[in-house]
Amino acid sequence: MSIQFHEETGIFSLTTENTLYQIRADASGVLLHLYYGKKTDTDMSYLIRYTDRGFSGNPHELAGNRGFSLDTLPQEYAGSGVGDYRLPAVQVISPNGSRSVDLRYAGHEITAGRKPLPGLPFVRESRETETLTITLRDRVIGLEVQLKYHVFPGQDVIVRSARLVNAGDEPLLLEKAASACVDFPYGRFDVIHFHGRHCMERIPERLPLPRGMVSFGSRRGMSSHHSNPFVILCGRGATEDFGDCYGCMLMYSGGHLEEMEVDQAGSTRLVSGIQPDGFSWTLNAGEAFQTPEVLLSYSAEGLNGLSRQYHDIIRQQVIAPRWQQGARPVLINSWEAAYFDFDAEKILRFARTAKELGIEMLVLDDGWFGKRDNDNSGLGDWKVNERKLGCSMKELSDQIHALGLQFGLWFEPEMVNEDSDLYRAHPDWALTDPDRSPTLGRNQLVLDMSRQEVVDYLFDAMCAVLDSARIEYVKWDFNRSICNCYSHALPASRQGEAAHRFMLGTYQLLDRLLTRYPDLLIEGCSGGGGRFDAGMLYYCPQIWCSDDTDAIERLEIQRGTSYGYPVSTMGAHVSASPNHQTGRLTPLRTRGIVAQSGTFGYELNPEGQSESEREEIRQQIADYHRYADLIAQGNYYRLNELDDGGDFVAWMFAARDGREALVNLVISHVRANGPFPFVKLRGLKPDARYRLEGGEQVFSGAALMNGGFSFPLTRGDYPAHQLHFTEI
Ligand code: DGJ
Repeated sequence: MSIQFHEETGIFSLTTENTLYQIRADASGVLLHLYYGKKTDTDMSYLIRYTDRGFSGNPHELAGNRGFSLDTLPQEYAGSGVGDYRLPAVQVISPNGSRSVDLRYAGHEITAGRKPLPGLPFVRESRETETLTITLRDRVIGLEVQLKYHVFPGQDVIVRSARLVNAGDEPLLLEKAASACVDFPYGRFDVIHFHGRHCMERIPERLPLPRGMVSFGSRRGMSSHHSNPFVILCGRGATEDFGDCYGCMLMYSGGHLEEMEVDQAGSTRLVSGIQPDGFSWTLNAGEAFQTPEVLLSYSAEGLNGLSRQYHDIIRQQVIAPRWQQGARPVLINSWEAAYFDFDAEKILRFARTAKELGIEMLVLDDGWFGKRDNDNSGLGDWKVNERKLGCSMKELSDQIHALGLQFGLWFEPEMVNEDSDLYRAHPDWALTDPDRSPTLGRNQLVLDMSRQEVVDYLFDAMCAVLDSARIEYVKWDFNRSICNCYSHALPASRQGEAAHRFMLGTYQLLDRLLTRYPDLLIEGCSGGGGRFDAGMLYYCPQIWCSDDTDAIERLEIQRGTSYGYPVSTMGAHVSASPNHQTGRLTPLRTRGIVAQSGTFGYELNPEGQSESEREEIRQQIADYHRYADLIAQGNYYRLNELDDGGDFVAWMFAARDGREALVNLVISHVRANGPFPFVKLRGLKPDARYRLEGGEQVFSGAALMNGGFSFPLTRGDYPAHQLHFTEI
């Protein structure tokens, strides 16, 4: 049993293999957070201390007990306006204008397994999953909050969400509904968040949490390139391999907010959920609002340990079972090879050469539909442009399949150009403010996915294309941030619902398509990695990591992404040199090694490669197949510390049974007479003996992990080393 309730003390204990999460409903019904961290076998309520802190008030029913204050005790889901002055988890306006929410314990239930979340992505149950539902109630306004905890013992993950129910008679207006709130009464933490921009996503930044409030988030209606919905709180001394680390990952692809507050007594509150700025939701009597889920995890084994837990839960319980095992196809994407300039003949030439190289799928990117020879028009008109192609999609797909390749197609379903038949017919289907010119992004507008007729139109239009030809893969793009988030189908009083309803519409469309085409591989994309989040991963087992395909830039992007997400989810392609984004020249070998630590593919004109490059590409693909299982299923380790100022980036994969390892190291700055690049390996068996491929030398696991391994000095820009160790 991973969830236990102790009647006498009111304590709930949620245990995973290595962690304990403890909560207590106290005598006055306040739900207190007792502990989250390394597993212990005791009642942790001794950690709660009561004291009278000035200006921290006391509930009326406890008059005389000045040591009891909502403001000083660790709360499990903080209300607002009734004496806890820290960050609230929930904010509600009652019909009389009051903003007070006072949540008290009203009951609980422990069940085996878990129920799916209607309309939202969720962490799929495992054989071990158990669920705790604690109901809190505000007796005055009739708000009920059902806190859900799904425990995943094997991955050391606790999944939380909240369901807010209006159990009263009058409408309530929700202004904030966080997915989770966690109080850490003791300890000083650093926060690591993942910021970025288009072409440079998920860059970790580590900051000591100051007193007061710090927040990260997105107001773009998308999880965004700029701030990933994932933060880590770690002990001040934590490194990649040692120390306390807590992760908080929101499973949501829309606007989000992660807030932290260090209070007067040094305790830290973490709140994560849908972006409250611009959000409001009318909850009529009897209605419920479900928040997205948050994946909480704790590791005592540093950042690498925490990352491995997220990699496991995502690979095992977030990604659809259909894609959990087996290598994904090596693909070639037409974007950087041809941009908008192609016809079927050119694409078939690419396909023929690609097949000779060992590539397994050809993906036709943007430009095959409507009037679409540049990015100014055509979005929304999902009809094949046979005049441009010179044939039907079926003819093209049949010829590609006849060559022995699979075929994939690009869509950007949630967008529309003003210059499109769709917009001309239904201008009100776009999110635009009345009487105001809309702000454009890449010359396009955003469709109002909150409208069922929009979702139905897209479903029918996409099915018409997908039914017309054999298509095994879809690249699902999203190329602007949302603003003018006004739905012409919602009344004025409900405009605050448009952004979340948009996400529900998108999830519904993805869900319906996958129900109809269960074998369809959808790769998420948003101008690269603008929607790289656990929500999209539920539907799309891989996501194009960045529009920056420069291998040296990708070292940073893929490394940053790896803190939360496994490499098997990261779309990574070998692209041309000089690179189209940076103009940098990088050896083909290095480009191959970097792309191999992702879902491998090519993003270049295959006809433009010399004979020796073609030979090298054939070898890269053979190597990819050789190592595909180790890379996709093995344990991943970053081998250098964040911001260590070094001249190389190193990472490795160790088989789960420790019998094999693949070590990669790329020199990002070559130096004359520099130090030897040096790393300590991880994840091996100390007593086992390993042979390094290509030689006779044998090393013990203990030697490689404690003594490490040094690499020879090299000359020239951006060389890469790859070492393969196998147990003998
Ligand atoms: C942005 C994507 O990230 C690119 O790979 C490409 O698909 C373009 N959009 C096409 O418009």
